[in-house]
Amino acid sequence: MIDLEHVSKSYEEGDTVVFSDFSMHVEKGEFAVVTGKSGIGKSTLINMILLDEKPDAGKIYVNGRDIGRIPQKEIPFYRRKIGVILQDFRLIGEQTVRENIAMAMLVAGAPANDSKIHHVAKLLGIVDLLKKYPREISGGQMQKVALARAIINDPLILIGDEPTANLDPGFSRSLRELFEIIHDQGTTLLVATHDPIIEGSRGCRIISLEPQVVGS
Ligand SMILES: Nc1ncnc2c1ncn2[C@@H]1O[C@H](COP(=O)(O)OP(=O)(O)O)[C@@H](O)[C@H]1O
Ligand SMILES: [Mg+2]
Repeated sequence: MIDLEHVSKSYEEGDTVVFSDFSMHVEKGEFAVVTGKSGIGKSTLINMILLDEKPDAGKIYVNGRDIGRIPQKEIPFYRRKIGVILQDFRLIGEQTVRENIAMAMLVAGAPANDSKIHHVAKLLGIVDLLKKYPREISGGQMQKVALARAIINDPLILIGDEPTANLDPGFSRSLRELFEIIHDQGTTLLVATHDPIIEGSRGCRIISLEPQVVGS
């Protein structure tokens, strides 16, 4: 589902080598947890998959497609097939939880589907929050709403970049359970984290990023 083939990536004209001839494969339906110390390249990896960064060399395939060949005008459509959950989960303050989730469907060009929203809300345990506004719910609950938004359009892949940073361990445990549930439903997950609770997820495979050895 996600294949990196001999990817190299540097910043600042080659001074910061993040990846050098790096390959990695994630199967359809797999729950991959990408770990490694801060600054190792977890976000860079995710940004390349989202086409926010380009590798200097090598290829990235998502669902069999060489994403480096996606025409500029198709990039928004490509990104909509990927659910993303970041540390910064901005909800629209003037909209209820239900409207925040519905917005993700509208943006993807689908009509808001109430039974779908209810199904996902039930899966994540947030049915009681649907009529509330973001200011009326906790940080952990907001993260669940962000997760609902990320999966509402049945993404090919759910990607997370440090989704539990700045949240308490109780929340990490609850997010881990939700990732496990989403994984059980057959979704492919790729989550970058250095949170040991997420690293302990049932059924996940750890991909540990190591400093790149660069030949001279
Ligand atoms: N846009 C950028 N410009 C220059 N250097 C960057 C940029 N993004 C990341 N880096 C550098 O690349 C390395 C990997 O960063 P990052 O992918 O954010 O790591 P992680 O997410 O694992 O903490 C770090 O040395 C970081 O400083
Ligand atoms: Mg990062």
